[in-house]
Amino acid sequence: MVNIEGDLHMTSGEGEGSYAKYSRRQTIVIDETKPVIEKAIIEVYKAILPQTMVIADLGCSAGPNTMFFMSNVINIIADHCSKLDEHDPIELQFFLNDLPGNDFNQLFRSLEKIKTSTTMYHKGDSLPSYYISGLPKSYYSRLFPRQSVPVGLEAGGKSLSNMDNIYISSTTTPLVVKLFQEQFRKDFSLFLKLRHEELVNDGHMVLIFFGRKDEDVYNGSLSHILGCVAKSLESLVCKGLVNKEKLESFNLPVYGPSDDEVMEIVMESHMFDLVHMKLFEANWDPYDDSVDDVVHDIANSSQNITMGIRSVLESLIASHFGESILDVLFQEFRPLVAQHLEREKTKYAVIVMSLKKI
Ligand SMILES: C[S@@+](CC[C@H](N)C(=O)[O-])C[C@H]1O[C@@H](n2cnc3c(N)ncnc32)[C@H](O)[C@@H]1O
Repeated sequence: MVNIEGDLHMTSGEGEGSYAKYSRRQTIVIDETKPVIEKAIIEVYKAILPQTMVIADLGCSAGPNTMFFMSNVINIIADHCSKLDEHDPIELQFFLNDLPGNDFNQLFRSLEKIKTSTTMYHKGDSLPSYYISGLPKSYYSRLFPRQSVPVGLEAGGKSLSNMDNIYISSTTTPLVVKLFQEQFRKDFSLFLKLRHEELVNDGHMVLIFFGRKDEDVYNGSLSHILGCVAKSLESLVCKGLVNKEKLESFNLPVYGPSDDEVMEIVMESHMFDLVHMKLFEANWDPYDDSVDDVVHDIANSSQNITMGIRSVLESLIASHFGESILDVLFQEFRPLVAQHLEREKTKYAVIVMSLKKI
């Protein structure tokens, strides 16, 4: 059974193979969602006129994206306040949340660079003061005091087999698909309920997460890429490097919902107004910015994708199967990704939504 709270962490450091190096795709997604974040911040500012604004980045990791997000927020507030000619400057309190295994030391060290990026942007204007705290805890538990700011596959206690799959694939039974969906519904509803308790009235929350473009649950981009990881694990079973039962007991704690599925859960919660929702697509290769459907350099792209997926999954895989399989596993994975890219340039579907507490 995967123990996400104890075992998951993005690969730390800033070197080759680190999450920091392969999180460029997420940077682009954050950049594209800047108008949504800006709108949410300004609406909260106007509604509350706070002396201190509390902003939380949930699942922040230790890469450059947290700094990028925080610089954006500081710049948006500074621009807005300078237009209003505010004399009593607002102060910002950032809470950076991730699981306890996250490399918070690296994260805090990297935040020094915020000063340079925000001062360069404002050249001499005064910037709001900001304070930063770390919050090492799962966001499926309460993180903040009330109104201060946002398992595996089991049915009736029994595990159902997903065979050699580690996510939903063409051979996953409808019953197991239902379990993935029920787990997502349970987790996302809990997440909404907890954030509703923590947010002040009129507080906003912008969520960015993997989704699915196609209504058909078997045709999500996560199924394609995680299918390649599953095939690589299967080939290690054939080589006697991984025990078959170990593989059968491994399922990833993720689910890519369609926008309708997400909307339905938000509506049923009666806790948030859906201000904005968009599904957009992002290339698997974090370094390929082309917008067409052609993979221009399969060898290079398959290597980038392999490093990117490894930087996210290796902690979970190592804790379940042992660290010794990592190199050989991702050697198997890369040609499978290349074969997939020969057939089509599948893209991740990313859902962005802005919610207002009601
Ligand atoms: C793909 S990374 C995204 C990191 C960063 N926000 C970015 O855009 O680059 C997802 C992060 O969510 C964290 N995460 C996953 N489940 C979590 C949970 N239950 N509570 C807190 N953080 C969690 C992971 O540890 C990981 O750092």
